Amino acid sequence: MVDSYTIGDLIKKGVEILEAGEYNNPLLESQLLLCHVHNVDKIYTYTHKDRLVDSQSVDKFLKLINKRKSGYPIQYILGKQEFMGLDFHVREGVLIPRPDTEILVEYIIDLVKGEYFNEKESIKIIDIGTGSGAITLSLAHYLENAHVYSIDISPTALEVARENAKRLGLESRVTFIEGDVLSPLEGLNLYNSIDIIVSNPPYIPTKDIQELQREVAEHEPKMALDGGEDGLDFYRRIVREGVKYLTDGGVLAFEIGYDQGKAVKELMLRDRGTGTMSHHNPFKDIKIIKDLAGHDRVVIGRVGRGDGEL
Ligand SMILES: C[S@@+](CC[C@H](N)C(=O)[O-])C[C@H]1O[C@@H](n2cnc3c(N)ncnc32)[C@H](O)[C@@H]1O
Repeated sequence: MVDSYTIGDLIKKGVEILEAGEYNNPLLESQLLLCHVHNVDKIYTYTHKDRLVDSQSVDKFLKLINKRKSGYPIQYILGKQEFMGLDFHVREGVLIPRPDTEILVEYIIDLVKGEYFNEKESIKIIDIGTGSGAITLSLAHYLENAHVYSIDISPTALEVARENAKRLGLESRVTFIEGDVLSPLEGLNLYNSIDIIVSNPPYIPTKDIQELQREVAEHEPKMALDGGEDGLDFYRRIVREGVKYLTDGGVLAFEIGYDQGKAVKELMLRDRGTGTMSHHNPFKDIKIIKDLAGHDRVVIGRVGRGDGEL
């Protein structure tokens, strides 16, 4: 048996429980979980504060609040996360998109719309490590002239990304491919034809994963986090294997960890890849872009003979 609660009381109860769990925004989370149980908008919780909640819903709400308190990510409970103004469905097995990643996406959107690509009629992009499709689908949504080849090694991630593409009406603008980094593109005849390679790869050094916030370490997929011993495994591979896909003037853009700017820049300067063009055209004009907290967040560089500024 559960006590009888109004919507207002129940939200308060949720806040009390969550506060004990040291979460950032107990009020918002309590409201969101109540909305989820009732299938209503947040505004409903203000306009119907005094409405009594049936005992089944109270029970369900308290179960979810306690699950959240134990460190389970709220996005997996709600089944979604907003990114670049779009709703992405997420579930266990898929990384929850982070606001920091918007910096990378916005930079690329500006680049494609700006002078550098000079109103090119169509833009081909490769996204390595699709996850929920956050980067791929935002680029496809905001850049009408783009086609994105979107790769992930995780079948769950690709399934979720495909569902998101369908919901956002972007299926025809994306080619989803399962496989390891760039290897599934071999044989697709894409050498020297890609304008931009983008990736937010796994970049946490293996030994640091256990020290991440509990929500992340215990509930998000290791496969989306583990960047090998020094965290740089994927950058090394993508720098080496990616060059041969890029056109003259093609761009490589990475999200990076807050302390990886210098190391990834060095990799792009040193590791020249294996394609023919790469021997003559290492990456240049390399920039490190900071996030709002002042940490390194994006590294971007280009190949080719031109002298365009990124
Ligand atoms: C940090 S997550 C990024 C997800 C998404 N792009 C985002 O920004 O929210 C890295 C992604 O890389 C994928 N991944 C891990 N190893 C991979 C590999 N060897 N080849 C391709 N993708 C891989 C993971 O499954 C995961 O979806």
